[in-house]
Amino acid sequence: MFELPDLPYAYEALEPVISGKTMRFHHDKHHKAYVETTNTLLRDANAAPESLEAAIRAAKASGDKKLFNNAAQAWNHGFFWNAMAPGAARPDGELAAGIAGAFGDLAKLKQTFVADGVAQFGSGWVWLTADKAGKLQVVTTHDAGEPLEDGGQIPLLVCDVWEHAYYLDHQNDRKGFLEAWFDALPNWSFAARQLAAARGQGEAWRYPRPKSTEQMRRAG
Ligand code: FE2
Repeated sequence: MFELPDLPYAYEALEPVISGKTMRFHHDKHHKAYVETTNTLLRDANAAPESLEAAIRAAKASGDKKLFNNAAQAWNHGFFWNAMAPGAARPDGELAAGIAGAFGDLAKLKQTFVADGVAQFGSGWVWLTADKAGKLQVVTTHDAGEPLEDGGQIPLLVCDVWEHAYYLDHQNDRKGFLEAWFDALPNWSFAARQLAAARGQGEAWRYPRPKSTEQMRRAG
């Protein structure tokens, strides 16, 4: 059974870009529903994958669209919460060098990230990723899509561009949301750890391990 991890900060911590009200809906309703549906589908199939990453891989391989959509959305949201931090510092070290190498500077990365996020038709995600050589790029995925293992990409950051992520606070202004998000919320130290992992130093972020029904009951 996969769990809904707590946010790594208070619901209001990302204001004014993302309100506490949006975070309550987004984490407590949307993310929770993806986790619960994933658990129901796995239980019905008598499957007990050792990790959410394994569940996503298996769903991808077998063409189980419903399981893929829910498991990948559970993963994407878990990653998204960690990819944000209130008052995060600017990128430095190898991450800053990687940004300079791929985009020129942080302002140009922002331009690309915002433009690609705006251009994503319908629901989806805009990611900053790195390959094993540490080369950075911006990619978008549709609906529940995630860049895991696609061409060896490791995600460093992500912004949710489903309307539920910004509509209460920014209405239809996705561009305004993405610009404000990029200026205030990327967790650059998390991104730096992901970049190090892409290059073989340390572990990339993984969704919390599943717990048995017995463990869940004991934890209350
Ligand atoms: Fe979302």
